[in-house]
Amino acid sequence: MIQTCLFPAAGYGTRFLPATKSLPKEMLPILTKPLIHYGVDEALEAGMKNMAFITGRGKRALEDYFDISYELEHQISGTNKEYLLTEIRDLMAKCTFSFTRQESMRGLGNAIHTGKTLIRDEPFGVVLADDLCINEQGVGVLTQMVRIYEKYRCSIVAVMEVPQDKVSSYGIVSGRYIEDDLIMVDDMVEKPSVEEAPTNLAIIGRYILTPDIFGILEQTKPGKNGEVQITDALMQQAKDGMVLAYKFKGRRFDCGSVAGFVEATNFFYEKLQKDGKK
Ligand code: G1P
Repeated sequence: MIQTCLFPAAGYGTRFLPATKSLPKEMLPILTKPLIHYGVDEALEAGMKNMAFITGRGKRALEDYFDISYELEHQISGTNKEYLLTEIRDLMAKCTFSFTRQESMRGLGNAIHTGKTLIRDEPFGVVLADDLCINEQGVGVLTQMVRIYEKYRCSIVAVMEVPQDKVSSYGIVSGRYIEDDLIMVDDMVEKPSVEEAPTNLAIIGRYILTPDIFGILEQTKPGKNGEVQITDALMQQAKDGMVLAYKFKGRRFDCGSVAGFVEATNFFYEKLQKDGKK
């Protein structure tokens, strides 16, 4: 029912310089797959087949990744290495990919608004690829959120508890529990100080948004750090109607930080060894 997933991928990835000087941070690999591939896998599992990317200058590697590489295909065809391309070929056969560019970095809200032309008037998913999420016990985070959307038909953010001293790195929500793991949002603050934070429930990079968010984003003034924040637009949506925060099942790796990236790499490598593939 939700057909499109938006991947804001215009950021510089400064924490990974110098690697990200010429390589999009979304292309950094966890083992042999770039981060963006894990995000697309999760969206596809949730039934979204149109993958829409917000990129920027220096991000062409993302477009090339989801396209055929004729020379490579020709070289590898019929050799014992061909199987290494099976997974990306299968993925490409199941999805469409579209790209648009954010001209200047004016915040996540502005990046999402740039995606309007690729989405039109439908609800859509949003994945921030540097939040890598897994759920070994069941379905992925976006699939869990789509199920909630089917019941409540409103915007939903994925949240998790973070240590108090980390609240200033996230959008923080508070509200009233309507189910065990579901909160009706009544407050939402982008990167508050410890004193300002209403709770320690942090938004992670998974959203389901209803399309009225675009009109709200057009009216949203720059907020924290002078950028248009999706958190502020969602707060407006919560005031006008309803926004839910969902405590997802599974685990999230903060691959936007070197420590989280290493943690994810170790996790997937150990998993590979356990599965007997290396
Ligand atoms: C963005 C959002 C923030 C959210 C975070 C999740 O911040 O603005 O609300 O908590 O993603 O990763 P960023 O990490 O891009 O600064």
